[in-house]
Amino acid sequence: MALTSVDKTNELRQRIETRKARIGIVGMGYVGLPLALLFSEERFRITGFDIDSRKVDSLNQGGSYIVRIPGTEIQMAQQSGFTATADYGQIAQMDVVIICVPTPLNEYHEPDLSYVTGTVRSIAPHLHEGQLIILESTTFPGTTEEIVVPLLEAGNPAGLRVARDAVTSGFFVAFSPEREDPGNDSVARRDIPKVVGGCGSTAADLASTVYKTIFNRTVLVSSPAAAEMTKLLENIYRCVNIALVNELKQLCLRMNIDLFEVIEAAKTKPFGFQAFYPGPGLGGHCIPIDPFYLSWKAREFDFRTRFIELAGEVNLGMPYFVVENIIEALSQQGKALRGSKILVLGLAYKRDIDDLRESPSLTIIELLQKRGADVAYNDPFFPTVGQGRKYALNMTSMPLDQIPEYDCVVIVTDHSQYDYRSIVSRAKLVVDTRNATRGIVADNIVRS
Ligand SMILES: NC(=O)c1ccc[n+]([C@@H]2O[C@H](COP(=O)([O-])OP(=O)(O)OC[C@H]3O[C@@H](n4cnc5c(N)ncnc54)[C@H](O)[C@@H]3O)[C@@H](O)[C@H]2O)c1
Repeated sequence: MALTSVDKTNELRQRIETRKARIGIVGMGYVGLPLALLFSEERFRITGFDIDSRKVDSLNQGGSYIVRIPGTEIQMAQQSGFTATADYGQIAQMDVVIICVPTPLNEYHEPDLSYVTGTVRSIAPHLHEGQLIILESTTFPGTTEEIVVPLLEAGNPAGLRVARDAVTSGFFVAFSPEREDPGNDSVARRDIPKVVGGCGSTAADLASTVYKTIFNRTVLVSSPAAAEMTKLLENIYRCVNIALVNELKQLCLRMNIDLFEVIEAAKTKPFGFQAFYPGPGLGGHCIPIDPFYLSWKAREFDFRTRFIELAGEVNLGMPYFVVENIIEALSQQGKALRGSKILVLGLAYKRDIDDLRESPSLTIIELLQKRGADVAYNDPFFPTVGQGRKYALNMTSMPLDQIPEYDCVVIVTDHSQYDYRSIVSRAKLVVDTRNATRGIVADNIVRS
C-alpha cells in the first residue's frame, strides 16, 4: 500500500527522532561547519556540501580550517559518518538540507543573494517528496517565500510543490536564523533558543523537531518572514546601540569623561538598560551588513529606515575618527603621520577570533597608508594577510619585540593574549580604541 503524505511526514519525524535521518548542510563555513559538528555529536550522519574543494578535501582528511575548531572534532564527527562533498547529486539522499551560505552586500551596498540562489538552483534538480529544506543564511523578510520556494518549485523535474501541511504532497521549506556569536563562550550553543518559521505549520514543526535534537529550545513563529525579520531585528538592535555609544564616546572624549566608567555604572541598573561598548567601527559578517538588507527591502514599500541609515553613518565614520586621533596624538609628540611607523595591534574584527571580514582594522590600515604612514600589524590569528574582496594588504604579522621601533602602537582588536602593561611600557605612544589599557596609568596612552 502506498504511503500517504501524512505517513511520510510521520516517517520523517521518526527518522529525525531516532537519528536515522540524513542531514545535508550546504556551506561549510563559520556557521555550517559547527552546525554539522553539533548534529554529528548527536550521532546523525551528516554530509557537508561546499563548492570550495580545498575545504572539502581538508574536512575529508580530518582537518579543520577554523582556528577554534580542532581537527580532532572533525575526526570525531567522521566516526558518526560525517563526510564532505562538492557533488550536489548527493542531495537526493538527504532527508533534510540546511543552507548556510554567505549573504554579503554588492558594491552598491545592496543584498547579494547570488550564493543563496546558486545553492537553491543546485538543490532543486535533486529534490524529492517529503524532503525538508531549511534556509539559515541571514536575509531580508520574504526571501524564503518569494525567492527560495519559487526556485525550488521551478527547478525540480518532478514538478513537486511546497507542501504547506501534512496532507498535501511535495517538499517542506522553513527559515531558521543562525544566532551564533563567535568567540563568545558565555552561553553554550545548545542553550541559544532556535527561532523557526515554516511555510505552513507542518514544515515549522518538522524543522523544530530537527533542531530540538541539538538545541534545548525552539521558538516557533508564524512564517518564514517573521523568522527572517527576527534575525534582522536582533542585529539592527546591536548596530543602532553600538552607534549610540560610538557617538557618545566622541562626545565624552571631548568632555573628558570616561564613557567606559559610565557604562559600567549604568549597567548596575537592574532593568531597562543593556550595556553596549564603543569601538573602532563595526566588523564581521553580520552587524555591518544585515541592516542594509532591511533598508533595501524597505524601499519596495516606499519606506526609509532612518535609524539604520544614521547608525550606519556613525559606525562607518569610526575608523576615520581613530585615524584623526592618531594624527593628533602624533602631532602632540611633534610628528607628522606621513613617514611615521605605525603598528596596528589586531586584524580580526573582534577579540580572540580568526575572522577579519569587514574588520575596521583593514579600513584603518588603508587610511593610514593613504596618508603616507609606514604601517605594520601584529595579530596572533593571522601570521600573514593577503588579498580579500575589499583589501590587498599582502603583509606579515610583525613580532611584538619590535614595539619600541614604532612611533605609535594602535590597539584595534583587544585580543586577550596581549600583555597590555608590557606593550604600554615599551611603546612610544599607544592609541587605544578598545579600553584595553584600562587600569594602566601612563602618559603615552591616548584613548580613542
Ligand atoms: N559567521 C557568523 O558568525 C554568522 C552568525 C550568524 C549568521 N551568519 C549568517 O550565516 C550565513 C553564512 O555565514 P558564514 O559566516 O558561515 O559564511 P562563510 O563564508 O564562513 O561560509 C559559507 C560557505 O559557503 C560556501 N558556499 C558558497 N556558495 C556555495 C554554494 N553554492 N554551494 C555550496 N557551498 C557554497 C563557501 O565556500 C563557504 O565555505 C550568512 O548569511 C551569515 O550572514 C553568520
